[in-house]
Order: sequence, then C-alpha cells, then structure tokens
Amino acid sequence: MSRFENKVVLITGSVQGIGLACALRLANDGADIILNDLRHDDRADEVVKQITALGRRCTFIAADVSQRQNVYDLLTEAVKVYGQLDILVNNAGVERNHNFWEVTEQEYDFVMNTNFKGLFFLTQAFVVYCKEASRPGVVVNMSSVHEEIVFPHFAAYCASKGALKMLTRNLATELAPLNIRINNVAPGAVATPINHTLIDNPELLQNVLKNIPQRRLGKPEDVAAVVAFLASDDAGYVTGSTYFVDGGLTYHYEEQ
Ligand code: BGC
Repeated sequence: MSRFENKVVLITGSVQGIGLACALRLANDGADIILNDLRHDDRADEVVKQITALGRRCTFIAADVSQRQNVYDLLTEAVKVYGQLDILVNNAGVERNHNFWEVTEQEYDFVMNTNFKGLFFLTQAFVVYCKEASRPGVVVNMSSVHEEIVFPHFAAYCASKGALKMLTRNLATELAPLNIRINNVAPGAVATPINHTLIDNPELLQNVLKNIPQRRLGKPEDVAAVVAFLASDDAGYVTGSTYFVDGGLTYHYEEQ
C-alpha cells in the first residue's frame, strides 16, 4: 500500500518551487492533491495534468491566502472536492529585501499576512473541520532557517517565521488531544523562484555557498522528501518540531 493511499492533501502555493515539488512527491506517494495559488493560469493546468498522469486525482483552487475569509472559503471548497481532507501543507510564502528603516506598512502586511496571518487562519479552519468531522489531521508548515537565524534586511520575513516557530510549538500541545500533529520544515537556500536574485548572481551565490557545509543549494525535492515524511504515519510520534533541510547552514561554523 502506498504511503498516502486514500489521503487528500491541500498544499498552498503549489504551482512552483517547493510547493510544486511537495505536490509531485505526495502524489507519487499515493495522495490526491488539491493545488492552490493566487490565480488559475497555464502553469496550474500543467501541474494538474502532471499529477493526473501519475494516476492521482488533482484539482486547482485559486485563492489569495493572506486573508482570513479567503482561507476559510478555500478550506470549505477543498473539503467539497473529494469529500475529505487529511493533510494541510502550509507552503505559500513571500519575502521582501529592504532596509528595516524603509519597510512600508504595505510590505509589512504583504509578508506577515501571507506567511503568518493566512497560515494561522487556514490552520484554524482545518482544525475546525477535523474537530467537527471527528477526523485526525496533519499539518506541515513551510518555515525557514530564518525561524532561528538572522537575515539582515528581511526583518518582516524573519518575524513571520519566528512567529511560525512558536505557533507550531504551541499548537502541538493544544491540538494533540484532537489527534492533530503539526510540524515545521525549515529549508535553507533552495534553488526556487523566491531565490532568483541569488541564483542569477554568481558572486552572491559563492558567498552563500561558503555558509553551507554541503556547498550546494538545496533542491525542492530535498525539502519535499521531509514534508512527505512528516505528513506520513512514519512521523506519528513527531509533533511541535522543526526539521531543518539546509545542508548544514543553520549550525554552521568554521574558522578557515
Ligand atoms: C529565504 C531565501 C534565503 C534562504 C537562506 C530562505 O528562507 O527564502 O531567500 O536564501 O532562506 O538564507
């Protein structure tokens, strides 16, 4: 039996980057997939096709996951599609590179609402659903190494991931009696669209690689493999943790 036989997964921000890799990995492992992103475009249709070709069911739902009402509507729609929802992967995230003293309220809201507020209420909507349906649930959040380590010029981003670290710790305790597990995955520098500035700048890239003991960027599939583990029953006794997928970046130190 495949790992996610008869399981339905909702993954936010899943037509590119890490979210897409998670969708493909979980589908390969047997899950039916509900994709989400801001808008329905050709990319979305392409991913639906790819997953359907794997023999899994797949649907795309467009939603801006930065607002409470949107994420409640998304959850309701997602449950309707295949009549159940078992796993939520909160993947959607954004970042802005700006000096702290220049960050506008609009930028702050964009980052905090997408990375934290929307995730908070989508998780709440999922928990309400699980509770009312008396079903167990699994939540995997896409955090970052920056829930732990600093990232100058990305103050709002770091604040959002730091908040996510504590949310997960807190909910693990509060939701355990409901049979709901929740964990974070913390990618380091991964070759995805969010990192295009880094990938396109060889000098900057070399500087980043100096900080990574494995001397390479991560691949989206490296992250998806850990998401699949945490989403599966193999991680049945894991809740409230963060799994770093960073080639050693976070706890890196060398003198030469
Ligand atoms: C950020 C990337 C950054 C990486 C390592 C990620 O969370 O999205 O922009 O390169 O952390 O610092």
